[in-house]
Amino acid sequence: PIKAFLFDLDGVIVDTAIYHYQAWRRLANELGFDISEQFNERLKGVSRMESLDIILAQGGITLPDDKKNDLAAQKNGWYLELVSRMTSDDILPGVATFFSQVRKAGLKTALGSVSKNAPLILERIGMTNAFDAIIDGTKISKGKPDPEVFLKGAAELEVSPAECVVFEDAVAGVEAGKRGGMFVVGLGSPDMLIQADLVAPSLAALTVEEVLKKSE
Ligand code: G6P
Ligand code: MG
Repeated sequence: PIKAFLFDLDGVIVDTAIYHYQAWRRLANELGFDISEQFNERLKGVSRMESLDIILAQGGITLPDDKKNDLAAQKNGWYLELVSRMTSDDILPGVATFFSQVRKAGLKTALGSVSKNAPLILERIGMTNAFDAIIDGTKISKGKPDPEVFLKGAAELEVSPAECVVFEDAVAGVEAGKRGGMFVVGLGSPDMLIQADLVAPSLAALTVEEVLKKSE
């Protein structure tokens, strides 16, 4: 039986995906090129430095590591400016209702995010206590699509991967959950999240009962 729900943060609990895109786009623009929203899909769930590498490759730019670190720090500064204005109003529709159903069902919860800023964002939106375990970018060595972040979440909750459902908006995140041996709910478009076991537009479109029925 399913015992735990593991949630991605960006694009699942809050819409920070748009802030990541705005900050990366600003960086690309300063380097003399642009990145589209479609290109941005490839960056979702991917770590900060890997994202920078993908962007630089897109612009045909090669740089030494120290310069790359400067650019990543610059992007993060812009991103944090956007995050600093966040409040509980930024929690995505349906999240509060879904989490109260999760509690009533007696399920455990973990956050599984590649973001090093995840704890800060949870503080800003007042959701730190909504999770029994928090795995963020500071606790892992491999970003999604590697399953490490979700396997660590399951381990901390003391449940097996087969007892977990993962909620993800990113192609790389859906793949991570599947590689971890978990049932994966994709939040977004079914055309893009083809590896997911179940796809819905957002948590607002789902009930815990329905997810449990489909995953058992
Ligand atoms: C999440 C986001 C990515 C982001 C990554 C690292 O996975 O979906 O867009 O690059 O976290 O975030 P950070 O806040 O550590 O730069
Ligand atoms: Mg995401």
